Amino acid sequence: MESQKIGIVGSGLIGRSWAMIFASAGFSVTIFDIEPSQVSNALKLIKSQLEELSESGMLRGTLSVEAQFALIKGSNSMEEALAGASFVQECVFEKLEVKQKVFSEMEQYVSDGAILSSSSSCIMPSQFTENLKRRNQCIISHPINPPYYAPLVEIIPAPWTDQSAIDRTRTIMESVGQVPVTLKKEVPGFAANRIQYAIIAEVWRLVEGGVLSADDVDKVMSAGLGLRYAFLGPLEVMHLNAEGMQSYMERYTQSIEHVLGNFGPTPTFTGSGLERIIKEMDAKIPLDKLEERRQWRDTRLAALAKLKRDLERE
Ligand code: NAI
Repeated sequence: MESQKIGIVGSGLIGRSWAMIFASAGFSVTIFDIEPSQVSNALKLIKSQLEELSESGMLRGTLSVEAQFALIKGSNSMEEALAGASFVQECVFEKLEVKQKVFSEMEQYVSDGAILSSSSSCIMPSQFTENLKRRNQCIISHPINPPYYAPLVEIIPAPWTDQSAIDRTRTIMESVGQVPVTLKKEVPGFAANRIQYAIIAEVWRLVEGGVLSADDVDKVMSAGLGLRYAFLGPLEVMHLNAEGMQSYMERYTQSIEHVLGNFGPTPTFTGSGLERIIKEMDAKIPLDKLEERRQWRDTRLAALAKLKRDLERE
């Protein structure tokens, strides 16, 4: 069976990750970048990452490193990269004007059946697809960093996206082992950032209000809530922590309302609170140690992804 072709536009961190994810499932991938050196660099980085993943037992899919790498090509022409592609994943800079320009270029090189998908983390799809001829084929598939280990993909249609494009995007994401969730309509921040920002706001209030240190507030998540959330969402946690959701709400609604009523306004993220948090974070992880800590994080996320995969196989 001839594999479907995927076009990747933009070969930075996220473009490279998508290329590896699609190739791991046997798709043919062609990467384009406006900067030709980025494409050759991306191919080199992908090769060495695939080798490292294989050595650590974390390579996705059933194909060998050589077979996966052979599926990934580079091109210095967008037209060539997109010719015959059934799905295109755009991964360029997060700037509205750049997304608008790139989408208006991309739509010239694809056929009626192709899906034009953006990795955008903040810009809503209607903002850069409204005036396109192929706007019904456009959608956002927003990954979480690092996408190779964190499989969530938020699928966000514009008001004019075809239902078939939404369904096919979900199916493609599932077929490469990602975990798609579909927003029924676009909202600022999509879902993950809305939830993340609600957490950031309360974490900020707790530090700013002198209740917890920056280090301790992070431990509430990393040693407590986060452990559950690696496996269950908050609604299932509630359902299991009583005799079902109804029983949970009967027991705890009053308490939830009482605590929420005590939250206070959205922090301004300025002034002495900001200074204190920056100082504590810089002391905990000095700026020249950030790369080391990112590698520490990725090793742990890789191990957790493997554990989750192994548990699901049982
Ligand atoms: P990046 O800065 O690493 O890479 C962007 C690439 O796009 C560069 O190689 C650049 O040369 C290329 N590019 C710029 N303009 C172009 C054009 N007109 N045509 C073709 N290529 C062009 O960016 P990164 O981090 O990979 O982000 C890409 C997208 O993914 C952004 O929309 C970002 O918001 C989103 N995203 C990023 C995440 C992250 O943690 N880095 C997480 C989830 C989504």
